[in-house]
Amino acid sequence: MLPACAANSRRLSNPCDDMKGTYILAIESSCDETAAAVVKNGREVLSNVISSQIALHTLYGGVVPEIASRKHIEKINPVITEALAAAKMSLADMDAIAVTYGPGLVGSLLVGVAEAKAIAFAANKPLIGVHHIEGHVSANYISHPDLEPPFLCLVVSGGHTHIVMVEDYGTYRIIGRTHDDAAGEAYDKIARAIGLGYPGGPKVDALAKQGDPNAIAFPRAHIEDCPYDFSFSGLKSAVLNYLNIEKMKARDVASRGAQEASEAGEASAKPGELARHGVPTGGDAEGTEACPDTFSDGVTKADLAASFQEAVVDVLVTRTIAAAKAEGVTTVAIAGGVASNSALRNRMREVGEANGMRVVYPEPILCTDNAAMIGAAAYYEFLRGNVADLTLNAVPGLKLGER
Ligand code: KG4
Ligand code: ZN
Repeated sequence: MLPACAANSRRLSNPCDDMKGTYILAIESSCDETAAAVVKNGREVLSNVISSQIALHTLYGGVVPEIASRKHIEKINPVITEALAAAKMSLADMDAIAVTYGPGLVGSLLVGVAEAKAIAFAANKPLIGVHHIEGHVSANYISHPDLEPPFLCLVVSGGHTHIVMVEDYGTYRIIGRTHDDAAGEAYDKIARAIGLGYPGGPKVDALAKQGDPNAIAFPRAHIEDCPYDFSFSGLKSAVLNYLNIEKMKARDVASRGAQEASEAGEASAKPGELARHGVPTGGDAEGTEACPDTFSDGVTKADLAASFQEAVVDVLVTRTIAAAKAEGVTTVAIAGGVASNSALRNRMREVGEANGMRVVYPEPILCTDNAAMIGAAAYYEFLRGNVADLTLNAVPGLKLGER
């Protein structure tokens, strides 16, 4: 966990004293986590504080941008104070201040960027702007201290699905991308449709463990002439169609039952009774749909979750390994919130190793949004002299590789 500075900076020299090391205070606020971390030499995490807003946004079934930015304002100072205290360091000990400046929600990004600029100015420290996705990729440097470019990385989060060739520190080439939904977005939408709530990924992951991944053959979309690209909208529609057909069947059964009951002189069934018999009754206050545990064909909700996940994991793994073969790389990494998915981790490792490749992924807490990964990415920017000035601004649509 404690590699010497020089050992992980093959081609770059450290402007700071090697004996002391380089300490970066990193800030992340691009979506619904307010996070701060102190990272030494890009690989050693001295503190990693994350204040999650999940409980707040769960009420609305997804992230509400305005609420997210207000909560960041409330939390950012305490989170930074806690990160420095947990590392037993002060602002004066830091060599640089790093912050995510894009992509993400503009209001959320602005809170982190304004805070980092204020701290850098007040403490007279260099400021480093970090690309959120480069942060996700760099989480692998923390969990695998010997990992060095080149390697291929599948980035799968709530907003991104990319196969990226990491040519060098800070040098990326996009090999494949989604044409519509991101993988995490698809997980969140399906979770909502089957009544699991927000955030959907971890809940679908857990439920899928109890289901049969081959129960329903959901489609795998191929994009013509783009063998490493993805599309999840057809899969999402297939799952929603399945659920709608089941709803219609359930309504038929319910109205037939009501008609038979009224013919027999009984009172018709009340909505509550229908729900108890497993008939979907529509949405609830949290923006999730009611969903029966078992459908008319005997398939369970867990089977549906497992079959959906199988379709996602299958395309992610098949295309990533094919791209790795085409690029001639022997190391494959996964990054982003969906990289904490158990089925994806296991399958990628299984298929990668069967093809003679090393497969790495960060520990789950470093897969979802955190500031330690921003500190890791910032370290290599710092070594390259990529320091920002106080005109740094939030760039919500920042592209990978853009500065
Ligand atoms: O990287 P991240 O924390 O935020 C973004 O940059 O988007 O990723 C969040 C996404 C959400 O869509 C969430 O549902 C998904 O990652 N996710 C998962 C799992 N844990 C988080 N998806 C599938 N399986 C999981 N275990
Ligand atoms: Zn993220």
